[in-house]
Amino acid sequence: MKGENDPLAAFWMPFTANRAFKAHPRQLVSASGMHYRSADGRTILDGTAGLWCSNAGHCRPEIAEAIAKAAASLDFAPTFQLGHPQAFELAQRLAALMPEGLDRIFFTNSGSESVDTALKIALAIQRARGQGTRTRLIGRERGYHGVGFGGISVGGIVSNRRTFGGGLPGADHLRHTHDIARNAFSRGFPPHGAELADDLQRLVDLHGAETIAAVIVEPMAGSTGVLLPPAGYLQRLREICDRHGILLIFDEVITAFGRVGGATAAGRWGVTPDILTMAKGLTNAAVPMGAVAVKRELHDAVIDSAPGGIELFHGYTYSGHPLACAAGLAALDLYARDGLFDRADELAGYWEDAAHGLKGRRHVIDIRTIGLVAGIELEPRPGAPTARAMELFHACFDNGLLVRATGDIIALSPPLIVEKAEIDAMFGTLGELIETIA
Ligand SMILES: Cc1ncc(COP(=O)(O)O)c(C=O)c1O
Repeated sequence: MKGENDPLAAFWMPFTANRAFKAHPRQLVSASGMHYRSADGRTILDGTAGLWCSNAGHCRPEIAEAIAKAAASLDFAPTFQLGHPQAFELAQRLAALMPEGLDRIFFTNSGSESVDTALKIALAIQRARGQGTRTRLIGRERGYHGVGFGGISVGGIVSNRRTFGGGLPGADHLRHTHDIARNAFSRGFPPHGAELADDLQRLVDLHGAETIAAVIVEPMAGSTGVLLPPAGYLQRLREICDRHGILLIFDEVITAFGRVGGATAAGRWGVTPDILTMAKGLTNAAVPMGAVAVKRELHDAVIDSAPGGIELFHGYTYSGHPLACAAGLAALDLYARDGLFDRADELAGYWEDAAHGLKGRRHVIDIRTIGLVAGIELEPRPGAPTARAMELFHACFDNGLLVRATGDIIALSPPLIVEKAEIDAMFGTLGELIETIA
């Protein structure tokens, strides 16, 4: 049988070119702070906080100890018709970090589950409000909302959709906001494109507001290459939602927990959604966990309109898992103690200057930063789109730097404990290696 004796054969790796990886495996074996250690004994500077998730850096002892303690004292407790104190405590702590009013928290185990939960909660809210005809869910081109059927239905990445059928009936999409022709190399929010929010009005005119339950967007689209919201875009989307009774969901799986400064992008940028999804940084990625924050009155509408018994027929065996709660509480303590949500703001200027230092380098056609995120867009190689960024990703890894390649874009999102010298090292390495890529 093929691969019978190959120790790498059994693991069907996610979002991976399995054949290429297994021919040239690059494995990580340990981590600490800003660094990984590779299987061949090299130290790798983590420019991506793992997958946008280890916001306080790796293997923080406080988190490790909290998990070990939970594992030894309450390894599992159901949260269906039962509970345990740390789940309530974490929900309360999270509620306090959310934008005002979003103080009801549902636990999941991942970003994808948070998204599907948020979409289902939106449908439940509309039904509870007597708006049961509102079943249509709107996403955006180039949006990434995980891999559940709900998430890919509203997501806007063709390769994540084409294999898997038609998706949820009635899902539709706003146009994406990426516009290099007008916004290349701008700093902060791109100046052009607020009017693209009017696309929601176009969909209202097309489908009828009474069919639309919710619109979901990432405040900043991370996975498709750090696409920043044009100045005024999110505010305009909020206004159109309000005008038509459409719920606004922010997918903050990447942006929550300090990535753009503040606990959430919504809070930092002053636009409040009705529902907000989180995951990744919630436990500093030490135990899988996600959560959905919901406006109190919308939560109450669902709870109060139920005839008795279970109000929402939804949940996961591991919703509020004790180990995840312990990791979450320890992570929130660390974030607060070390002031990590302020660090993206404090370092944003330095980070932005360092990133924009790559302007003029070979192949670079745009640079975008916000908080401690950067996207460096490369001109696609003729006839071989995405190849350049993937080669650069490999070159960086082989030279001790972890970056992320998405399409023709290199994304950086380091742990929030990053120091200026490490920022210099990241962009220094990138700048040198870009020149070596054909
Ligand atoms: C905005 C957004 N939503 C959802 C997800 C899916 O999260 P997960 O991979 O934990 O399911 C991601 C993952 O990158 C994300 O960036």
